[in-house]
Amino acid sequence: MNTIIIGLQWGDEGKGKIVDYLTEASDVVIRGQGGNNAGHTVIAKGTKYVLHLLPSGILWDSKTNVIGNGVVLDPIGLVLEIERIESQGIAITPDKLLISDRAHVVLPFHKELDAAREAALGDDKIGTTRRGIGPAYADKVNRCGLRIADFLDREFTEQQITRRVAEANEVLARYDLTIFDAKQVIEEVYVAFERLRPHISNTIPVLHEAWKSGKKLLFEGAQGTLLDIDYGTYPFVTSSNTTAGGSCTGSGLPPMAIQSVIGVCKAYTTRVGSGPFPTCDEGLSEYLHGLGREFGATTGRPRGCGWLDTVLLRFACMVNGVTGLAVTNVDGLDEYETLQICSGYDIDGTIHTLPPADRKAWDRAVPVYETLPGWKSDTTACTEFGQLPAQAKAYLARLAELCGAPIAFVGVGPDRIQTLVVA
Ligand code: GDP
Ligand code: IMO
Ligand code: MG
Repeated sequence: MNTIIIGLQWGDEGKGKIVDYLTEASDVVIRGQGGNNAGHTVIAKGTKYVLHLLPSGILWDSKTNVIGNGVVLDPIGLVLEIERIESQGIAITPDKLLISDRAHVVLPFHKELDAAREAALGDDKIGTTRRGIGPAYADKVNRCGLRIADFLDREFTEQQITRRVAEANEVLARYDLTIFDAKQVIEEVYVAFERLRPHISNTIPVLHEAWKSGKKLLFEGAQGTLLDIDYGTYPFVTSSNTTAGGSCTGSGLPPMAIQSVIGVCKAYTTRVGSGPFPTCDEGLSEYLHGLGREFGATTGRPRGCGWLDTVLLRFACMVNGVTGLAVTNVDGLDEYETLQICSGYDIDGTIHTLPPADRKAWDRAVPVYETLPGWKSDTTACTEFGQLPAQAKAYLARLAELCGAPIAFVGVGPDRIQTLVVA
């Protein structure tokens, strides 16, 4: 069975941990969208790994990991990431990591353009990760981006970079941001490209061959449904399709290659960056931050925390075709006396069970809550679903009922082994 792992909230749901867990029974792990704005944390055998561009399957021996055509790839960032993960004792050989020659490239000035755009937006800023994701995808759609394959023709690439640097510098000068020297950009990017060259190939036939020969494929989503460029809380979103369809367009595999979609969500809600967050709760944020939880894996920013929002989850299950839920961080609620679940939004006196498209309506959305009893006990040592306290099971059952999808996995801690399978 080939499976998509997708985030159902605003990212950081624990996708990396679930992908890592499922990699053991898979052959190929594929990233199809996003870039190094992603930060996927995996804790295995007591060691913590944070992955940005590398698929989380990289931690396992004898698995193939593919960075697909839909990813925007920062070559300098990827080389640094490979070095960091290798220094943690993980070998990253060319047969273990394949990079699509169709992936678009994030160049150093894209990051600075990202900062310029945020500065221009002032108080309305998106709160991006400043990894150049928006400007790189904008160049792709505007048909002036550079793809990995272009780097094989150095003369052409030098011309293109020189032109793009001149254009970028005009914008950057207006915001007193770093001005780039095209020659230096070319040198730096080519050093990284040469390091990555053994990993580059046309990954589409490789993936098709794997599919046709019955290998098990696992698609690793980045970000989450509410950050999707179409379905998210626009404009406070990222610049790619983070939903299930992005796995196909981002890899070259067709929809019929996929049989299941595991939607990952936390037992509560978090969000980093700007934008609407109806169930945000100061008390819960302070509580979780006090436990040292909920700081961003990419930028270190504290994530806003709030109650479980099934308006978002219901919509996310719908647009992704979720066949099973992976509910992580259940242990985060272990000490709470009573818990709230948002089942609808009251917008101007009407109850909505799906999120609005109108950006101004979000500001008027008042969550309608159901209150459930907490379980007030430590779940982190549970090794089977049946060992969870009755109140935790009831909370999860209500979550599943409101979302319209069954629970497949439950996370009770950050370690690979703290994953419960629901039969
Ligand atoms: P991703 O971007 O979706 O892969 O998620 P992140 O790694 O950015 O954030 C998820 C955070 O929750 C990380 O710190 C994980 O180690 C942690 N985590 C994942 N699942 C669980 C869980 O079930 N319990 C606890 N306590 N932490 C978890
Ligand atoms: P993972 O894969 C959480 C957020 C940023 C910002 C918005 C746009 O770890 O779940 P961008 O840099 O993409 O232009 O920023 O999206 N964002 C994420 N939030 N997890 C992520 O990835 C994110 N990637 C981007 O904070 O609000
Ligand atoms: Mg993350």
